Amino acid sequence: MGISHPVFAALYDWLTWPAERGALGRRRAALVAEGRGRILDLGAGTGLNLPRLRAAQRYVGVEPDPAMLEQARPRAAAATVPAALLLGRGEALPFPDGAFDTVLATLVFCTVPNIPAALAEVRRVLRPGGALLFLEHVRSPRRPLGALQDALTPLWRRCFGGCHPNRDTLNAFRDAGFALEVAERWAGGRWVRGAARPE
Ligand SMILES: C[S@@+](CC[C@H](N)C(=O)[O-])C[C@H]1O[C@@H](n2cnc3c(N)ncnc32)[C@H](O)[C@@H]1O
Repeated sequence: MGISHPVFAALYDWLTWPAERGALGRRRAALVAEGRGRILDLGAGTGLNLPRLRAAQRYVGVEPDPAMLEQARPRAAAATVPAALLLGRGEALPFPDGAFDTVLATLVFCTVPNIPAALAEVRRVLRPGGALLFLEHVRSPRRPLGALQDALTPLWRRCFGGCHPNRDTLNAFRDAGFALEVAERWAGGRWVRGAARPE
């Protein structure tokens, strides 16, 4: 797959632990609990969504970084529904059309190299009426904050596994033909949570 950030993968749960213990974790739990039926977790990382599944029938996590997948394995083994982890990329999903009721995207479109290609794949694998549930950090619409995020991006992406803190992810969803329900936007508009459905 060509992606490997072993140090980032090893540190990921430690780095995110303070936020996951607090408001971010509560928002993640609320989002994932909305997931229904056959669930695809795009860029599953260390599997933080797995313990939060509530209405899933089965779970598939796709992740291009083998080091992340290793971290996710114990969570998949402990899942309350059948759970599989696959090495793969959002831009080329190894599933038939309409294979999933829900796609989860948590903190992932900041890192996916080709967002339009990945969103085209999400549309293809979602069944009609299915939903892409997202929790993402994005470029702030507030000018000074957005400019700061732009300035930080070159260093940030080197330190945090290719993550871009300045992406306009909501407009990328719209451009890909999704209708958005933004449930929440916080921290100066740097974080968003909601659902996107193919129009
Ligand atoms: C910040 S982590 C988030 C992990 C997890 N979704 C979470 O909520 O904790 C971003 C993840 O996106 C993955 N990723 C990078 N490029 C990707 C791609 N093309 N397709 C799918 N996932 C990708 C990374 O390997 C990494 O695990």
